[in-house]
Amino acid sequence: MRIVVVGATGHIGTHLVPRLVGAGHEVVALSRGTREPYQPHPAWESVERVVADRDAEDAAGTFAGRVADLRPDAVVDLVCFTEGSARHLVEGLRGTGAHLLHCGSIWSHGPSAVLPLREDDAKHPVGEYGTGKAAVEALLLAETRGGGLECTVVHPGHISGAGWPVIGPLGNLDPAVWTALATGAEVLVPGLGAETLHHVHADDVAALFAAALGQRRAAAGEAFHAVAERAVTVRGFAAEAAGWFGREPRLRHVSWEEFRAATAPEHADASWEHLWRSQVASPAKAREVLGHEPRWTTAAAAREAVAWLAGAGQVDLGGRQLAGAQGVSRAQSC
Ligand SMILES: NC(=O)c1ccc[n+]([C@@H]2O[C@H](COP(=O)([O-])OP(=O)(O)OC[C@H]3O[C@@H](n4cnc5c(N)ncnc54)[C@H](OP(=O)(O)O)[C@@H]3O)[C@@H](O)[C@H]2O)c1
Repeated sequence: MRIVVVGATGHIGTHLVPRLVGAGHEVVALSRGTREPYQPHPAWESVERVVADRDAEDAAGTFAGRVADLRPDAVVDLVCFTEGSARHLVEGLRGTGAHLLHCGSIWSHGPSAVLPLREDDAKHPVGEYGTGKAAVEALLLAETRGGGLECTVVHPGHISGAGWPVIGPLGNLDPAVWTALATGAEVLVPGLGAETLHHVHADDVAALFAAALGQRRAAAGEAFHAVAERAVTVRGFAAEAAGWFGREPRLRHVSWEEFRAATAPEHADASWEHLWRSQVASPAKAREVLGHEPRWTTAAAAREAVAWLAGAGQVDLGGRQLAGAQGVSRAQSC
């Protein structure tokens, strides 16, 4: 197949493009060309690179035509955030026979009520991002149901891997939390620590996209969560991370007001956005329909990220070493 990946050099694309090349596909990688993949891979040498700014070309009304002119059998759209942008691409691809795979988010679900969340649950998203993702999903699935373009939606959890900061046990990117857990310092936890976080390794997201590409008939008109087998609670995640250093976490449970007073606003806001939602997304449909099994647990994916961050000097582990984890069986760990 000839596959166009839109937004090809980020978290997902870094893993997806080599997977697709390795499976024998002809890959066109589209991005603005401001960055390279997180890890080099020889597969990139055989990839056609297209430099384009999707936002600018959406605004000019030329993006969908550019993608259609690439004559794709499939398009993996990793950077679509609004219904208007999705509609434009659908209209450009309709009638070409292409399969459109869109990257959504578990935030297309709102604050959780019944867990685990299922793909066909009624969605009550909050905020521009989640609302936009839910609107795109509704548009794409209706398009397929109506006999138009065949579309598939993949909803990742918090994407983790080597090369970028990972959402930590408090639901934020504060590197000081990893330092505290590594060194035995106290960590202020807003509330009980019973709230949930659900990660996914970027390579597991890539594997799910690859599975959907390879099973178009089963995937068309469907949405799938891309998440680790199980989610974690704040306290469970903190205990797991402290355990990497042979420690118990020293957690002090405080009110949200106390937490906000002691925490930089961007970290406190990120914690609120994640913990308020407290999502746990079921991975069952991807397994049942596509045979997709996530290889990484939340803790293993986070550990790989923290090991990389420490090696890159972006997280201070107080002089302690941390080896990255390989993907581990879903039966192990959290
Ligand atoms: N991060 C998470 O935890 C998370 C969780 C759930 C869902 N998601 C979804 O994952 C998707 C993002 O995938 P990712 O995390 O792999 O992306 P990413 O790491 O943010 O990388 C974005 C990719 O898109 C390119 N890009 C950005 N803006 C562009 C533009 N205007 N035109 C063309 N290319 C552009 C970037 O390269 P250039 O900068 O060179 O253009 C890069 O290749 C989004 O749909 C997001 O909603 C993310």
